Amino acid sequence: MQNISLPEVVRTGGMPLMEAISLRRSGRDIDPSKDIDLQTLSNLLWAAFGINRTKGRTAPSSHNRQEIELYVCLKSGVYRYNPVENLLEILFEKDMRAETGSQPFVGEAPVEIALVSDTTKITGKTPQGVIESTYADTGFICQNIYLFCASEGLSTVARALVPKEELAAKWNLHPGQIITLVQTVGYPLPRG
Ligand SMILES: Cc1cc2nc3c(=O)[nH]c(=O)nc-3n(C[C@H](O)[C@H](O)[C@H](O)COP(=O)(O)O)c2cc1C
Repeated sequence: MQNISLPEVVRTGGMPLMEAISLRRSGRDIDPSKDIDLQTLSNLLWAAFGINRTKGRTAPSSHNRQEIELYVCLKSGVYRYNPVENLLEILFEKDMRAETGSQPFVGEAPVEIALVSDTTKITGKTPQGVIESTYADTGFICQNIYLFCASEGLSTVARALVPKEELAAKWNLHPGQIITLVQTVGYPLPRG
């Protein structure tokens, strides 16, 4: 079982923000033959929910609880993003991309990022408040992914249509952990 060390994040460059916002959209026509290189993956995960200052992340979270972890599904396996060490920690040495949904592009795209919330970190709230809080936190991470993808010419779509309970069982999540959304990422098919 092999972890993947990610290359150092490149925090500069990219498209001007207003242009990236102009291009932001959901894309489902993903080229199955085109992989995402490790540098781009490193930058993508950092943009999504990396560390950008002491105790701070690229996306906000209620009370700075940082309860969301990114489970990254690649052809080579399922990994947990460790933003401190800029590492993908291997969880399962198995291609589980297709198991994150039933839409046709799901098993074809090179990267599926599942947002897994550890709701036990959210204390002092009603059950409804816990859900509201963690779905708000989810949305910021997803939008970061959308904007990074717009900037890099990648296609992405946030997906709620996910067999969440089945996946949680396969990944041995504890009852307090919930999969909030999964985001598909890949290169768009060339326009014909
Ligand atoms: C919470 C949420 C759940 C979504 N779930 C899915 C999904 O399961 N499958 C899918 O193809 N698109 C999904 N989408 C993408 C929306 O269909 C898409 O954002 C919407 O049609 C607007 O298109 P746009 O993102 O290109 O502006 C979801 C979007 C959000 C915000």
